[in-house]
Amino acid sequence: MKKPTELLKEEHQGVLQKLDALEDVINNLEHKEKASARLKELTSFFDTDFWVHFDKEGKALFPEFDNFMPRGAGPLAVMMDEHEVLRETNVVVHEAVTRYLDDDDSAAVIQVIRQNGTHFIEFLRNHIFKEDSILFRMAEMHLQQAQNERVIRLFAEIERTTKSDLK
Ligand SMILES: [Fe+2]
Repeated sequence: MKKPTELLKEEHQGVLQKLDALEDVINNLEHKEKASARLKELTSFFDTDFWVHFDKEGKALFPEFDNFMPRGAGPLAVMMDEHEVLRETNVVVHEAVTRYLDDDDSAAVIQVIRQNGTHFIEFLRNHIFKEDSILFRMAEMHLQQAQNERVIRLFAEIERTTKSDLK
């Protein structure tokens, strides 16, 4: 059976590919026809599926760190704060993308998408790097088999409940 950190790292690889695609699109917003379809697909990913991943970390994996890492301080607190920054930046990007798709593709709107989108992309790449290289490595050292199994069960539950929420 795969460890929860292995599953999350695989999801990170998928997210990094979406970020490359997003970077490409926000550099080509002047070609609206081409950009629109890809932009819709990417913003829908970052509005929905992506948060399931954060829940898996924040609600299933990180709580298992309690016996070796404090929750309200240090690296775990930093990761949770970064999740919030990403949520907030995503809202700003989403609003600007909606305006762009709804017929306001002015330079000002493009500028908002580009600035905040770039921030989102760079911030998230860095965040993933820190999780993969620091937090997940520590989880792999400290978590017992029973804990890994519990986390995997919670992942399935999070996927199930979040998907039914979206319907
Ligand atoms: Fe992550």
